[in-house]
Amino acid sequence: MTLSYLHDALREKVQHRVWVCSDLQQWDPEIAKKNLEIIFADFHSLNAPCEQVWNLGDSTDGRHPENQRKTITIQAEAFESLGLPLYYTFGNHDFDLLKKSPEGGSAMVPAWEILAPRPAWHLPEKLEDFFFRGKLGPFNIYFMGDHACAKGEWIVTHGKIHGQESQYPHSPEVYQKLRAEWSESPDPILIAGHYSFPGGNRPSPLLQNCLPLPDQVKAVFYGHAHLGEEKLLQENNFRKIAYADFQSIPQLDIAAMENRKGTFLRSALVEIYEDQSVGIFFRNHENRVWEEALVLASNRKS
Ligand SMILES: [Fe+2]
Repeated sequence: MTLSYLHDALREKVQHRVWVCSDLQQWDPEIAKKNLEIIFADFHSLNAPCEQVWNLGDSTDGRHPENQRKTITIQAEAFESLGLPLYYTFGNHDFDLLKKSPEGGSAMVPAWEILAPRPAWHLPEKLEDFFFRGKLGPFNIYFMGDHACAKGEWIVTHGKIHGQESQYPHSPEVYQKLRAEWSESPDPILIAGHYSFPGGNRPSPLLQNCLPLPDQVKAVFYGHAHLGEEKLLQENNFRKIAYADFQSIPQLDIAAMENRKGTFLRSALVEIYEDQSVGIFFRNHENRVWEEALVLASNRKS
């Protein structure tokens, strides 16, 4: 109730709003459909117009190509109904078929095959890319996800290189070059991807190469770590808000849009207010409540 009051009270201050979600992760298209119906019914009830959607990966799960394609298409059409730009970062399960296919090929990544040609969806230019750029009002956005050689020679999931590591083109220096780009940015930055940096839940070891995060980075949003999945998250089972190691930069766990590994269908709204402060509202779509919220003060001098 109080969080609803806070969310409503801030409405007139909102200049930009994004819906951030992740990990629908279904092998059964019927369950994907059902989950999306619950999530979208609640989302529409919020009457909170967004200008973008960020989907942080793991659309699907399992080894069944046709089920994967059905699930991804159901999700694509559901989000396209919003008429918004849709940003997608790959997660480990998006590469489940590529891992099994020695010859590789983009057809073994149904999320790439289905989403890349659709005009509303923004993905990395190539499967090999470990990041791509976006923009939200004054913020520079960096999307980071799993990536792979289209031939299947190497695949990066869980922040580790699998396969022919010697062929991996992104050395630690390449990651540090990206960090240097962040540190030179005149504009504030938000990072959104499938994994957290060290300090968050189930972090990516490769992202260690980007630490410490420059002050320009205001927050990190990530999926992969399904809230409530005690087996994998252990003592951090319900930790939505963590920080990059040794830093005061928050990392927000958004996952997941499923409730078999996690406990509820969840996502978050991220709002930029007129003074460039940032609000993050964590939503439980089944109970139709805001579970937690975090408001970050602006770095901008008044
Ligand atoms: Fe994942």
